Amino acid sequence: PAPGWTTHADAVVVGSGIAGLTAALELRTRVRRVLLVTKGVLVSGSTVWAQGGVAAALDPSDSPAAHLHDTLVAGGGLCDPRAVETLVTEGPARVRELVGRGAVFDTGPDGGIALTREGGHLADRIAHAGGDATGAEISRALVAQIEAVRDDPGIEVVEHALVLDVLTGAPDADGRPGPVRGVTLHVIGEGQRDGVGAVLAPVVVLATGGIGQVYRSSTNPAQATGDGIAAALRAGARLGDMEFVQFHPTVLWLGSGVKGQLTLVSEAVRGEGALLLDTDGVRFMPDVHPLAELAPRDVVAHAIVRQMTSTGADHVWLDARHLGADFLRRRFPTIHERLREHGIDLTTDLVPVAPAQHYHSGGVVTDLDGRTSVPGLYAVGEVACTGVHGANRLASNSLLEGLVFAHRAARDVVARLDGGFLVPGDPVERPGPATLVAAAARARIQRVATDGPGVLRSAEGLTAAAARLAAVPTDAHRRHDDGRTLAAPQVAEWETTNVHQVASVLTDAALAREESRGGHARTDFPATDDAWRVRLEAVLDPDGAL
Ligand code: SIN
Repeated sequence: PAPGWTTHADAVVVGSGIAGLTAALELRTRVRRVLLVTKGVLVSGSTVWAQGGVAAALDPSDSPAAHLHDTLVAGGGLCDPRAVETLVTEGPARVRELVGRGAVFDTGPDGGIALTREGGHLADRIAHAGGDATGAEISRALVAQIEAVRDDPGIEVVEHALVLDVLTGAPDADGRPGPVRGVTLHVIGEGQRDGVGAVLAPVVVLATGGIGQVYRSSTNPAQATGDGIAAALRAGARLGDMEFVQFHPTVLWLGSGVKGQLTLVSEAVRGEGALLLDTDGVRFMPDVHPLAELAPRDVVAHAIVRQMTSTGADHVWLDARHLGADFLRRRFPTIHERLREHGIDLTTDLVPVAPAQHYHSGGVVTDLDGRTSVPGLYAVGEVACTGVHGANRLASNSLLEGLVFAHRAARDVVARLDGGFLVPGDPVERPGPATLVAAAARARIQRVATDGPGVLRSAEGLTAAAARLAAVPTDAHRRHDDGRTLAAPQVAEWETTNVHQVASVLTDAALAREESRGGHARTDFPATDDAWRVRLEAVLDPDGAL
């Protein structure tokens, strides 16, 4: 749609989780005009929901090399070792900077940061805050820093703003996407900044988070509709590792009819010694993996689903009762409270849990500085595919990735703006939306994704899912134009279009990968196959085909 208003910036940061806030704060000191846009209010997105913590080799008995080892093992042979090395070596300094920015982590008896363990880690290296409210504390500290500079002309915050498209210049002679020229936004605001508008800028940093809304149930909040991935794809950027979706093993199960954002029961609860029991009360993880309940997350999630399939149960039990009421209340106050709201007492009851979508390891392909394949377009945090997660993200590496790569991206943006490599210019005219999916289709898409590229996948299920996704009408804009339905697309239609595009790309990738590896488990190809030790990438050709 034609923008109703236009403004200018040197850099636009899209998203206000740990990655977006870090990028904006780093850029503000060196770039004249930063625009930070977020779909909700500043405190929103997935970061605030993060329970477990931030992984970093902070203890003298630990080392970046050990953290590297564990990350590569969890990633199932698909991590980019250079990206992981960057993550683990720069991570400790970034966490200390976070403390400098005001984040208060839990401390141990010696006054140092208390560290715990989660699945796949062979050392205690998870820093946590408020017991199990790590993301909320990090978000509080970073948002306070943004609030403190709200009056600074160097930064403007636009809330309730959904990014629609990344604007680019003309493609080069070889058809490679032109440089970034800004973004179009749909703002639910007041006065001049209401409705669809454009921010013209030579730099766009996508920090839009995950894709939870592609599935029927997820630990992600409602905002996680894959907006950054879909906008980057439409701008010509390369996507990678899209099939690697992480399902968290222990999400509160409240019945098969309950969908949307579900309550996470942190892996840290198992880290402190909680056990998984089948519906007969028998432990099953020791037979599956030497690390038992603390095996990498994909191993635990798949074992639970297999357990549920073989017994016909729709959940398993998490048993933390033996850890003691005082300890559990002190260490996991948020989880304790959330479970109580559902009539479950973590200290005396078995907790019904089942896997649900939690994290997307793939996304917009970047280099070590967050650069995507579109000049001037950066991606940081969950939206990015930096190569640090490979086929399965190691627990608590996501907040760390957001910190480390947002910092690097901001440094790179400054250097390239200063060097005159990224300059403003006019965007090419867009013909209007090529596809628009009606909001009413969202529930159908979520069912299809859950049945197709869900926890356990097969050619049959994925082929059916691809066909059902292809049958979703994508011409809602034309139907709107002829006056039969809505006058103009609203946020729900844009988001549903993004959910549909992400679901389609990841279903195609899951169908293509004929092996099982990390978060991608195929019942028809149960083995890991060395021939598939490659990253699958997706890109739109100039005609809009994948
Ligand atoms: C959790 O607390 O279990 C989630 C941590 C993570 O996703 O890394």
